[in-house]
Amino acid sequence: MSATELPARHGEPPAGHGKRPAGHGELMDGVYRWQRHIYDLTRKYYLLGRDRLISGLEVPARGTVLELGCGTGRNIVLAARLYPDARFFGLDISAEMLETATAAIAREGLSGRVTLVRGDATDFDAKALFSVERFDRIFVSYSLSMIPGWEKTISAALAALSPGGSLHVVDFGQQEALPGWFRTLLCGWLKKFHVEPRHSLRDVLESESARTGATLRFRTLYRGYTWLAVIKTAV
Ligand SMILES: C[S@@+](CC[C@H](N)C(=O)[O-])C[C@H]1O[C@@H](n2cnc3c(N)ncnc32)[C@H](O)[C@@H]1O
Repeated sequence: MSATELPARHGEPPAGHGKRPAGHGELMDGVYRWQRHIYDLTRKYYLLGRDRLISGLEVPARGTVLELGCGTGRNIVLAARLYPDARFFGLDISAEMLETATAAIAREGLSGRVTLVRGDATDFDAKALFSVERFDRIFVSYSLSMIPGWEKTISAALAALSPGGSLHVVDFGQQEALPGWFRTLLCGWLKKFHVEPRHSLRDVLESESARTGATLRFRTLYRGYTWLAVIKTAV
């Protein structure tokens, strides 16, 4: 299949998508219905660290890569250019965002190696959705801070990785080394978009790595504005 079958815009996700918090998809559609048209232009100034995550994916030859919360498809397009023989998969709960992503993927001529579907990143059945059971790389970029029950996304992603695969996460940090007023302003502004930087992100990644026998590399960028993490599973 090429870019997405969008089952959701006019109905419920197909069987296999799993449960999602009531109304969260609709909430995300509401946030992005208009924002999606200016999303890529505006977010490049404050969703920092995404390109670093992409260049760190180091996708193996003919590898498979899944983005959870893929939004407009911006990251998948860039990653597909960088790793030209890899296959890409994107999942998002917002039909509005997927509409923009589908158009972007088609514009780039990538429909043959990118599959997009609507689903909930906290509870998804990769085999039913993508006909792929395990991925070499999974990444989550500035989405955990918008996903209720985001911890489940981390365990679901780890469960969907091939042995020796890796999970890459970039998101807002706690602005640890920035002035307090900056953090207050930023968090107040993000709240309007239903975004909440996850203060326990590092702890959860550490405990999930320990639970699954994986190794974690956690980095703080831009004085804590951004957190970037890679979990590598055992071979
Ligand atoms: C801030 S955007 C990030 C988009 C993209 N990853 C990027 O880096 O530009 C967050 C995305 O997460 C999606 N999202 C929120 N909750 C989700 C969930 N439970 N399951 C899947 N996607 C979700 C939203 O619809 C939105 O597209």
